[in-house]
Amino acid sequence: MNAQEIQGWVDSADSAFKACATLDDLKSARLLHTGDKSYISGASRSLGSLSPDEKISLGKLVGEAKASIANSLEAATKRLEDERDKKMLAEEIVDITLPVRRNHQGGLHPISIIKNDISDFFIEQGYFVEEGPELESGWLNFDALNIPADHPARTMQDTFFVEPLESGMVLRTHTSPVQIRTMLTKKPPIYVICPGRTFRADELDATHSPVFHQVEGLVVDRGITMAHLKGTLDNFARYMFGPDVTTRLRPSFFPFTEPSAEVDVFFNGRWIEWGGCGMVNPRVLQTCGIDTKEFSGFAFGMGLERTLMVRHGITDMHDIVEGDLRFTRQFGVGL
Ligand code: DAH
Repeated sequence: MNAQEIQGWVDSADSAFKACATLDDLKSARLLHTGDKSYISGASRSLGSLSPDEKISLGKLVGEAKASIANSLEAATKRLEDERDKKMLAEEIVDITLPVRRNHQGGLHPISIIKNDISDFFIEQGYFVEEGPELESGWLNFDALNIPADHPARTMQDTFFVEPLESGMVLRTHTSPVQIRTMLTKKPPIYVICPGRTFRADELDATHSPVFHQVEGLVVDRGITMAHLKGTLDNFARYMFGPDVTTRLRPSFFPFTEPSAEVDVFFNGRWIEWGGCGMVNPRVLQTCGIDTKEFSGFAFGMGLERTLMVRHGITDMHDIVEGDLRFTRQFGVGL
């Protein structure tokens, strides 16, 4: 080993490091020029076997050579790391001005939104949600509700009867049969809300649809009076239409309530018919095996399409049933 040889190792290590194009290349070059099997490491190890004079002179040269190789290595590492970082920044740049590809998520129809909303409002007050079948027996849809056989609602014009006609099955014309189903299966106290789809043989026009939705409320408990009904409707109306609205009851007739009333809401400066209501007719309670000396109840029912139309100033039923997303999107359903 001599000074020239040692300088040769330094130079070849330096040029090898400089020639590296990647950090991986540098790793191999580093092993070759500074690893256990490199000339410089071998020289270091052999210093011990030299004479004291040689040890001093060559030891100094070997030490300087090692420091120089380490410097070359450090410079090459820094150069390659900088290059890598620069490349990464250039390649991984995010162009936030590029147009995005939008995947439209599904969303709820406004009728479903209002249905859920109404259910939530009543659930908070301890009501249960009941949903009966859309294909209903004529007995539950009519007879049990005290609607006599000659009632106009039973004629072919209003009701979708289902074949075979002897089955006595109909597409339910209102959600009121869910009242009966509930009273037949549960003991009072009963607090239920029954939203659902209903059917009548109407032509689709600006205010009618053969398929529509209603929500039914039923309370049966001890000491229930019309004051409870009025208070419940007031709260419900305020929740639906805003804190300032009031309701009024107008005398009316339904076979399943006695007395019966129409409920109107005062909204946007005028009275608007909202739904029907009343005290559950004792005959209906008795049909369901409820002791009318102990229990009384109130019920109400209104259309969801109508509620939505009034609340949002929708003038054409077609908008609700046609499923045009330009309509639906206005209800903030994230489509
Ligand atoms: N079922 C009635 C209809 O479809 C609405 C109704 C009126 C429901 C009075 C009720 C009620 O529960 O008490 O027109």
